[in-house]
Amino acid sequence: MEHQNIYILAIESSCDDTSAAVLHNNKKLSNVVATQHIHEEYGGVVPELASRAHQQNIVPVVHQALAKANIDKKQLSAIAFTRGPGLMGSLLVGTSFAKSLALGLDIPLIEVNHMQAHILAHFIDEENNPKPQFPFLALTISGGHTQIVLVKGYFDLEILGETLDDAVGEAFDKSAKILGLPYPGGPLVDKYAQLGNPKAFPFPKPKVKDLNFSFSGLKTSILYFIQKQVKENPNFVEENLNDICASIQYTIIDILMSKLKKAAKQTGIKQIAIGGGVSANSGIRQALKDAENKYGWTTYVPKFEYCTDNAAMIGIVGYLKYLEGNFSDQSITAKARYVI
Ligand code: KG4
Ligand code: ZN
Repeated sequence: MEHQNIYILAIESSCDDTSAAVLHNNKKLSNVVATQHIHEEYGGVVPELASRAHQQNIVPVVHQALAKANIDKKQLSAIAFTRGPGLMGSLLVGTSFAKSLALGLDIPLIEVNHMQAHILAHFIDEENNPKPQFPFLALTISGGHTQIVLVKGYFDLEILGETLDDAVGEAFDKSAKILGLPYPGGPLVDKYAQLGNPKAFPFPKPKVKDLNFSFSGLKTSILYFIQKQVKENPNFVEENLNDICASIQYTIIDILMSKLKKAAKQTGIKQIAIGGGVSANSGIRQALKDAENKYGWTTYVPKFEYCTDNAAMIGIVGYLKYLEGNFSDQSITAKARYVI
């Protein structure tokens, strides 16, 4: 009975999105995200600027989340926050804010691992979004992460594979930069790819052991390929943009899917959940749909709002930890490298 009305305020500040959310049990009441556009002109996230923008955004974002949820801070049961992994200067803002607020309100503080939150985002209660059954495989793909995780329970996770260098979102963004597209280029590569021939320009697939990934070699081969072609025809990129994007996307999706297939075969698990900003990609979505028919998988893609960095996913982990009485004390510090 005592667990019927849990209100969690969650704070996410690990990278370049300042976000606050309020959850009532496993349901989202509000999920406010302030995306920092300042980084666009630099072609990537600048840590110092991200930290400064978090400091400016955090108070208004938290106010807005409480107002949208129509909740007074006195009603809150606990404060959940992203402890890591992420950029230290960014994490520090959310961590300090959460600690002070929990102290001031005299309510529990709950630390959350950002990668675990990307996975448990599937358990935010939403209509028409069935939740994966344990055990399942989670593929987390974003600008900062690429992981395959075996999920046996909410708090029983095992990383089966991860990137050894760039994240898959970075592979999209850096390829886009080579083509002269603005940051973040992933969605643009996707847009042009849908109009092109994926087999037009074959790029080599990296040979990486086990279930790990590597994307930095692909980036280099795209760079050399484009430099060579542009030498022969200065208009090569403009004339072939759709085909180049389709070929890049085809290669990246092929890399992801072959590792996912390997993981499914190795574990015998056919429940597959994805998350992270790259889940928006039309190629990966189609490949997963095809895999349902081809391999009998059941696939889960959360609402896009919960795929990109957001505080609601921190809130669901906060709620699940609250039920277990798993609280943190005021001595807790941010952790830039934090394995699940
Ligand atoms: O999860 P997210 O919002 O932030 C990080 O934690 O990184 O992911 C952002 C990444 C960027 O690299 C962006 O280019 C990529 O997701 N992305 C896409 C698409 N939409 C976003 N990449 C490929 N196709 C898309 N449609
Ligand atoms: Zn993330």
